[in-house]
Amino acid sequence: MKALEIKNLKKSFKSNFLIKEYHVLKDINLNVEKGEIYGFLGPNGAGKTTTIKCVLRIIFPNSGEINIFDKPYQSVAAREKVGFLPEHPYFYDYLTAGELLSFTGRLFSIPAKKIAKKTAALIKLVGLQGKEDLKLKKFSKGMIQRVGLAQSLINDPDLIILDEPFSGLDPIGRKELRDIILSLKADGRTIFFSSHILQDMELIVDKVGIILNGKMVKEGKLSQLVSHSVRYYETVFSGVETAALEENNLEYMQQDKNFIIKSISGEDANKIIRFVTSHKGTILSVTPVKMTLEDIFLKEIKE
Ligand SMILES: Nc1ncnc2c1ncn2[C@@H]1O[C@H](COP(=O)(O)OP(=O)(O)O)[C@@H](O)[C@H]1O
Ligand SMILES: [Mg+2]
Repeated sequence: MKALEIKNLKKSFKSNFLIKEYHVLKDINLNVEKGEIYGFLGPNGAGKTTTIKCVLRIIFPNSGEINIFDKPYQSVAAREKVGFLPEHPYFYDYLTAGELLSFTGRLFSIPAKKIAKKTAALIKLVGLQGKEDLKLKKFSKGMIQRVGLAQSLINDPDLIILDEPFSGLDPIGRKELRDIILSLKADGRTIFFSSHILQDMELIVDKVGIILNGKMVKEGKLSQLVSHSVRYYETVFSGVETAALEENNLEYMQQDKNFIIKSISGEDANKIIRFVTSHKGTILSVTPVKMTLEDIFLKEIKE
């Protein structure tokens, strides 16, 4: 089952007294399977927030189709299942974290007893125990992010949409957020999050969709995108005379007493291994150096 399906989504904004039309989303197509963590990756201004706002019906697309758990996104049944953390969460400063959560719970007409239970569980999930009674104006950016995440979960959503949740977090905050996202997945929920932070994506997502200038340029399982993209093989060895390497026209680098040779294909790497062993050398390591998401991303931008 698909948790979120977007087909041929287009959105333009008019400006200059309606003279000029900016086509911000030119053709967005994406498929998020139930239970997966989907990374919506793209540089600033690519159209991530605009896409998310369309899904949440904060703004309305010019054309296209959006389904949530196989239901049209306008339907109440679809919308009830969605939780959302905006890019720049803004909450009333004088509320405490606990008050914010019960306020949000009441908006969803959750019974008071249930709200209290739910609030305690969510405060724990996002690691804000002991801070329930602190006013939000005393919260750091990372703490605001967490309380925002907690309030996006108050209605027990099956699909959680997070817009740039990692932005402004320090490395520890990132690690903690990754763990929370993974625990939500373990709970059977689907997480869709946007980011331009590649490292955080690489560690947790099942699938990525890359958006550039309002168009999807790539979508796929992270393992496929990355494993199909071995850039080169690096063979490290020792115990071979430099003269032998030169006679065979092998391009090498030297690091202390070790040699490093880069081969583009696996077959070439095999040849190096045979050469080294037949010259009584020692193979120290053979490493397939894979493309990182960042490489894929930069390549798409250049094309
Ligand atoms: N209300 C709007 N009116 C005009 N242009 C907009 C509006 N909202 C967003 N844009 C433009 O759409 C583009 C994509 O913005 P956005 O979706 O926020 O990108 P991202 O979230 O990927 O950084 C940007 O060029 C932005 O200036
Ligand atoms: Mg954005």
